[in-house]
Amino acid sequence: MSGLEREQWSSSLGFILASVGSAVGIGNIWRFPYIVGANGGGAFLIPYLVSVLFFGIPLMVLELAIGRSTGTSIVSAFRSIQQRFTVAGLAIVAVTALVLGYYLVITSWVLAYAFFFILGMPVEFGTFTDSYLPLVFFLISGLAVYITVRSGVKEGIERISRYLIPILIVILLFLVVISLTEPGAAEGIEFYLSPDFSKLTDPGVWIAAFGQTFFSLSVGMGVMLTFGSYLGKERLFKSAGIIAGADMLIAVLAGFMIFPLVFTAGLDPASGVNLAFITLPSAFAKIQYGMLLGALFFLMLFAAALTSAVSMFEVPTATLMDSYGYTRKHAALFVFAAIMLVGLPSALSYTPLNLELLGMPFLDVADYAFGTIGLIVAGLILCIVGGWFMNRDRICDEIGGCGWQQKAYMALIRYGVPAVLLITLIGSFFPGAG
Ligand code: PHE
Repeated sequence: MSGLEREQWSSSLGFILASVGSAVGIGNIWRFPYIVGANGGGAFLIPYLVSVLFFGIPLMVLELAIGRSTGTSIVSAFRSIQQRFTVAGLAIVAVTALVLGYYLVITSWVLAYAFFFILGMPVEFGTFTDSYLPLVFFLISGLAVYITVRSGVKEGIERISRYLIPILIVILLFLVVISLTEPGAAEGIEFYLSPDFSKLTDPGVWIAAFGQTFFSLSVGMGVMLTFGSYLGKERLFKSAGIIAGADMLIAVLAGFMIFPLVFTAGLDPASGVNLAFITLPSAFAKIQYGMLLGALFFLMLFAAALTSAVSMFEVPTATLMDSYGYTRKHAALFVFAAIMLVGLPSALSYTPLNLELLGMPFLDVADYAFGTIGLIVAGLILCIVGGWFMNRDRICDEIGGCGWQQKAYMALIRYGVPAVLLITLIGSFFPGAG
């Protein structure tokens, strides 16, 4: 830091909204509902809740605690724990930047779809990606993220979430109400939630719950650590509980809007890219006021994706500021250029160039390598450095003393969370699980 006071969130609410902005993203809206439908319906909520309570929230609290206690972002925080962990911190920053690279590509497709639906023009994924138009939207989305982060913690990151999160919630509630009145609602909810408790003995279902938890809560990548470094006197468990609760609620609600529409249009439910860019657009084409609903849906998804992308962008930006003495403006510009480069292969993999690696579009490879494997490894590193090497008293100070609850918590961070991350890691090497 250049001797300036470190920026802080303007209030608790500001911090909560920015963190909810980070957590609520593409993962909630297009990934969670399908994972629920495919992994036991309503019964899946049990492993998911267990996973959020026992592994997601503790890891989030650990990140916030390290960030607040060291008062700095991940690389310098790790360095202050032990010099040799600098490299580990840098590795996590690299994973975050690599995830952002492809996440931003998807964000930019969402923006493009919002744009076309607003204009009332039907879009078809094949036609869209058969042009170089995706690159234009990639650049626009990158600029939006860059400008936000460049404006600062309060004026940029916090402010954008203050506007976008309430708007997102209102649109989502509106869409849920509309969807539930569609003729396919009952069938959709049936697919989504009808519980199959026999699935609870399938380890694949648990692995799916763990993987979804870490991605959806934005933990393991230094985002929450960096956010924690801007934090004042907050009760960390309480904040983490609110953030996780909001994240889960929005994810569950997203399912109530998606499946009724898909079944009303007589389509098969799909996941990921296919769900958002192929199945849902054709559902919107078939239902009344579909263009308007589609426009609202993609605007909502864009709000969710943008605030998540912003939080990832802050990680390398804060690192350049805290560890290398950059000003925020220079750091953000540098990160913008780097992310455009890192994301370019993913962006090009869905254009006429069809850039592939190992026979898969580059973006899909990046999602697997960085967004799945990389994220888990980063989470493991965080648990090990924070749980085993950071002075335990410092963590206790952050979480309200050193009683038996805090001791139990430390045991969870040292053994429980790493064990679950390892299981998820092993599971992710087998296709079909997660
Ligand atoms: N939580 C975001 C989502 O659900 C993605 C994300 C992961 C954002 C990790 C920041 C860090 O889409």
